Amino acid sequence: MSTPLYIALEGLEGCGKSTHTKRLGEHLNAVITREPGGTRIGALLRAILADPENVDLDRRTEALLMAADRAQHMAEVIKPALDRGQHVVSDRSIYSTLAYQGYGRQLGTEALLSISTWALNDRLPDMVIYIDVPTDVLNARLAKRDLDRFEREGADFFARIAEGFRELRAADPDRWVIIDGTVPKDDVEAAIRAQVSNRLNQ
Ligand code: TMP
Repeated sequence: MSTPLYIALEGLEGCGKSTHTKRLGEHLNAVITREPGGTRIGALLRAILADPENVDLDRRTEALLMAADRAQHMAEVIKPALDRGQHVVSDRSIYSTLAYQGYGRQLGTEALLSISTWALNDRLPDMVIYIDVPTDVLNARLAKRDLDRFEREGADFFARIAEGFRELRAADPDRWVIIDGTVPKDDVEAAIRAQVSNRLNQ
């Protein structure tokens, strides 16, 4: 059996990450999970983070709650799965913290990288699949759903996050693959599978 991979899907809200996390996870017979909220404790943290009434949540508190969710997720879901030889496919990861809190909330990435790496006990994703969809297309998709605390932020917040993801990808090209998320779902799925199969055969 090949070495199990920890694969994260990343992108802005509405890009199709959740659909493709599920599709890829089922294809690989992987553990399918997400951040925040991949554990019972994580679901409690996610409720605080997503609640639009929590307008007083400080940005550092927000970052630390994300890191707490991540520590629990690594200990309870990711590490045990990898240890027993199963792939893990996760909807979001440490890179969402770097993009959303680092760039979106303008906390910078240095401290966040160190806190999240500590939370992960140094086990970063092996592969990050970025589903790329222009923000105007995403805005049209989001108009159709109930918005959480993050989705209520303005266009500047999301522009900073998109730029953050661009810089993170450019700084670490071996870890990231970019998938065009504007084509039909089955084509997105095929493109993701092709990239993962390349990685598995390396
Ligand atoms: P979701 O919409 O992909 O389920 O993610 C929930 C929200 O949490 C989304 O707006 C992105 C945000 N988020 C962060 O701000 N930092 C993080 O580290 C993670 C994992 C998610």
